[in-house]
Amino acid sequence: MRIDIITLLPELIKSPFEASILKRSIEKGIVDVHMHDLRKYGLNKYNQVDDYQYGGGAGMVIMIEPLDKMIHELKEARDYDEIIYMTPDGETLNQGIANHISLKENIMIICGHYKGIDQRVRDLYITKEISIGDYVLSGGELGAAVLCDAVIRLIPGVISDETSALTDSFQDGLLAPPVYTRPADYKGHKVPEILLSGNLKKIEEWREDKAYERTKNRRPDLLKED
Ligand code: ADE
Repeated sequence: MRIDIITLLPELIKSPFEASILKRSIEKGIVDVHMHDLRKYGLNKYNQVDDYQYGGGAGMVIMIEPLDKMIHELKEARDYDEIIYMTPDGETLNQGIANHISLKENIMIICGHYKGIDQRVRDLYITKEISIGDYVLSGGELGAAVLCDAVIRLIPGVISDETSALTDSFQDGLLAPPVYTRPADYKGHKVPEILLSGNLKKIEEWREDKAYERTKNRRPDLLKED
């Protein structure tokens, strides 16, 4: 998968790709990530990228021209399956959206700032608008990093234990059951007996029960049929 990220702050989004699973996914050649500084297409001698909004009101808006030029340059080079805009008024990211995007070949992610980007860019180019939650961040970079992490870990070959991503919370519509590791008894706090039994069928049933119980207690909304 190739990911192109358009940002005004490339340094803000670099580090998540320089450690752990995301770093390895790049080293293995499974993912190819490119940052593009929007200032490259800034206007006039100040490399201006934003301006006051028409109609008045507080906050600057990222102008259409630098974005149009940057998007055009990228689209000339290849076709994109999704052009995603990170914004608090987008669709809230969930496992289903991450699964969907993980199947794509080329994606472009645009990070907004200030009051956002000129609506015409959204109308012309954006195929998906994604929020990472009902709060406002200073820009789309951290959201883009969250999205990339959620997506990349799902691509086959990225996580060595293939079943690991499939048994994550939300993959089957339930939260994940509790997990334990050694020692089996820590200062009297014991690991549930069943997990030490070696009876795989019983262990699987126990995990299913616990996943259901946890979901019912913490996220009953996930159990509602829609
Ligand atoms: N940019 C600003 N706030 C955001 C949010 N909640 N999700 C995604 N991008 C954003």
